[in-house]
Amino acid sequence: MTLSRRRFLCGAGRLIGGYALADVLHAASARTMPMRMAMPTLAPPKVPLVNPATLARFVDPLPVPPIARPSGQRTHPAYPGRSLPYYRMEMRAFSARVHRDVPPTPMWGYDGRSPGPTFETVRGEPLLIEWVNALPTKHFLPIDYNIHGAERTKPAVRTVTHVHGARVPAGSDGWPEDWFAPGHSALLHYPGVQDAASLWYHDHAMGITRLNIYAGLFGAFNVRDEDEQSLGLPSGDCDLPLILCDRLIAQDGQLYYPVSDDPSAPWVPECRGNSVLCNGKLYPYFDVEPRRYRLRLINVANTRFFDLSLSQGHVFQQIGSDQGLLAAPLQRLRIELYPAERADVVVDFTGMAGQTVHLHQQSEAILEFRVRDRGRPDPSVLPATLRPVPRIDPATAVRHRVLTVGEQDDASGNPMMMTLDGRMWSDPVTEKPKQNTIETWSFVNVTGDAHPIHLHLVRFQIIDRRPFDLFAWNASRVVKYIGPAQLPPPHEAGWKDTVRADPGMVTRIAMRFEGEPGRYVWHCHYLEHEDNEMMRPYQLLPA
Ligand code: C2O
Ligand code: CU
Ligand code: CU
Repeated sequence: MTLSRRRFLCGAGRLIGGYALADVLHAASARTMPMRMAMPTLAPPKVPLVNPATLARFVDPLPVPPIARPSGQRTHPAYPGRSLPYYRMEMRAFSARVHRDVPPTPMWGYDGRSPGPTFETVRGEPLLIEWVNALPTKHFLPIDYNIHGAERTKPAVRTVTHVHGARVPAGSDGWPEDWFAPGHSALLHYPGVQDAASLWYHDHAMGITRLNIYAGLFGAFNVRDEDEQSLGLPSGDCDLPLILCDRLIAQDGQLYYPVSDDPSAPWVPECRGNSVLCNGKLYPYFDVEPRRYRLRLINVANTRFFDLSLSQGHVFQQIGSDQGLLAAPLQRLRIELYPAERADVVVDFTGMAGQTVHLHQQSEAILEFRVRDRGRPDPSVLPATLRPVPRIDPATAVRHRVLTVGEQDDASGNPMMMTLDGRMWSDPVTEKPKQNTIETWSFVNVTGDAHPIHLHLVRFQIIDRRPFDLFAWNASRVVKYIGPAQLPPPHEAGWKDTVRADPGMVTRIAMRFEGEPGRYVWHCHYLEHEDNEMMRPYQLLPA
């Protein structure tokens, strides 16, 4: 970590208070190594921001996003002779209060709300969604026109929706360049050929994903199946998404997105807020009954990781990760989630009527559960085992790819941006797995930070993380291990679609490339990185 990098982080610390400092400390303690980075410095905000420390706690109820409802049935050429549920989902501008004492915040959202409605889907039951761009034609957040795909020649407002974690044909996956402008729409189909999991949907437009998601374009997308249904886990109004993100909010209610000190190139490599929104509210409370609840924790933040815990030593029973159920519930005091990661947890309030429990992000209480008895029995159970997770044997892989998570230098050797495998988005496709084959991918992280790496289409397993010699890598591009391999802890031993690639480590994953041939993407899920070249296409070849 060089001085310029430190300056950037310290600047952020001044801007946004205690969180950034905590991040610096976290990064400095665990996951850093010497690294030179000449990234843009953050400009101080020109408008006064809400200081969340001054806000009243727990005065707004936690919003629970409504369930999306189909507006009818339709046929689709991919499903001959069938009639499928058809959803029409409009993206619209709207204003909402993030807190009782903050003026309304203009945002963009699916169905004019953020988080958008929750999709309830079932394995084996395909559906159609028409994503409609009904947004204004002018963007309200700072576009950087130097970024590939965000040039002034493009319409400023453009969207394309991706269902994160969904196994869908390439044409329905939300290819970043398949965006459409206001007044246009895209009809995509979702075959539902995957196990129960907590997925989420969000915008993926080339070069401005970070701004569109920051504006509010995200929501939950549940996949259910009979196997999970038969377990008797908490359901109905005791099963809900808890969608977390951080924001900076100006005192007039506007969302503030940080910019660099160069007005002609406003992109910043990280965006961290000082306020944590739970389902769109700041410090909400949630009335619960003395029974079990299933919470689907989803990190939709641009760059922040969450370090979640419950007050007074209450525990989470983690039952699932990104791509569905773990083999067995895991008792956890803390849950760390990087951007786009999910944790499905059961929290048991049985016998706690009259008490309150807090959800903490690091040391701060961000949500208050108030336990009130309404006399309903709790029919739910938490079984000892959930679903087998057969391990993929790396020895069965037909191909082992070694891919850097790194930086691109300019002509004089200054790192200008972060890249994958040293390539740009527009470089020719290099990852061309064959349908139904198993591969391992090794992410060699040569930067000073962790990056959450996500592959579209597939679910994968983490094989291990292992420290390597950066100097040997830089000198000769060979991986020389300098420590033992670390197996994933139990909560990372289930099915994943996003993995934290730690600095100084080679992170190995294994997956079978099930799905339809076509073009997909893999990328860092720090949205600022993804928008600025830390995203690559891959091509799934037919078997
Ligand atoms: Cu959350 Cu490319 O996706
Ligand atoms: Cu995705
Ligand atoms: Cu990254």
